[in-house]
Amino acid sequence: MPIKACVFDAYGTLFDVAAAARQAAAEPGGEALSENWPQLAAHWRTKQLQYTWLRAVTGDHTDFWSVTQDGLDWAMEAVGLSEPAIRERLLQLYWELSAYPEVPAMLAKLKEMGLATAILSNGSPDMLDGAVNSAGISMYLDDNLSVESVGIFKPADVVYELVTQRFSCTRDEVLFVSSNGWDAACAAAYGFETAWVNRAGEPVDRLPGQPKHVLSDLTTIPQLADPNYGKFHNL
Ligand code: LAC
Repeated sequence: MPIKACVFDAYGTLFDVAAAARQAAAEPGGEALSENWPQLAAHWRTKQLQYTWLRAVTGDHTDFWSVTQDGLDWAMEAVGLSEPAIRERLLQLYWELSAYPEVPAMLAKLKEMGLATAILSNGSPDMLDGAVNSAGISMYLDDNLSVESVGIFKPADVVYELVTQRFSCTRDEVLFVSSNGWDAACAAAYGFETAWVNRAGEPVDRLPGQPKHVLSDLTTIPQLADPNYGKFHNL
């Protein structure tokens, strides 16, 4: 089926989640992060995601802002940091993460091609609005779909279902793009055509679904969405 909607995971896919720790480490007051910011960023992300999965399994849902703070508290303790000012700055920066450099032009191309575009994210609606506005990409997105409308985190099927409901389309008319191997795998198992953006060159997740496309960045998404458009417009 031709693709009707291109839907993107937010954190790690459109927005660089390591940017908060990297930037805080480079600012005055962030000296305590100068050596360990990569470990802090990695622990923060890992714990944030683990808490989403565990809360989805137990049914004890809270919003993504809460698990983001809980993950940071675990990560700071793990690397021996306790400064409240650093915690506050890292959390503030999470609302203003940079988009990866190729994102605006890629989204603009999808809109020029007449495709529907959206974010589908664990992020709460206010977090997504903050990130999208700060990155200056709101005009290229038809919607920010948040798990908050169903009260459970990815990869629950009801989350992926938000897309087919919103765009009145079938699963195979959706190109879903995520940098999270588990998200790409589960979306593929759900029935979306899936692209996994594997910037770090990680091994593929051993899960039932497999991404159809594996990319190193987002620049070729328009070609994947419509190979014919690419042929005739020198994409
Ligand atoms: C999201 C997380 C999984 O944006 O990155 O949903």
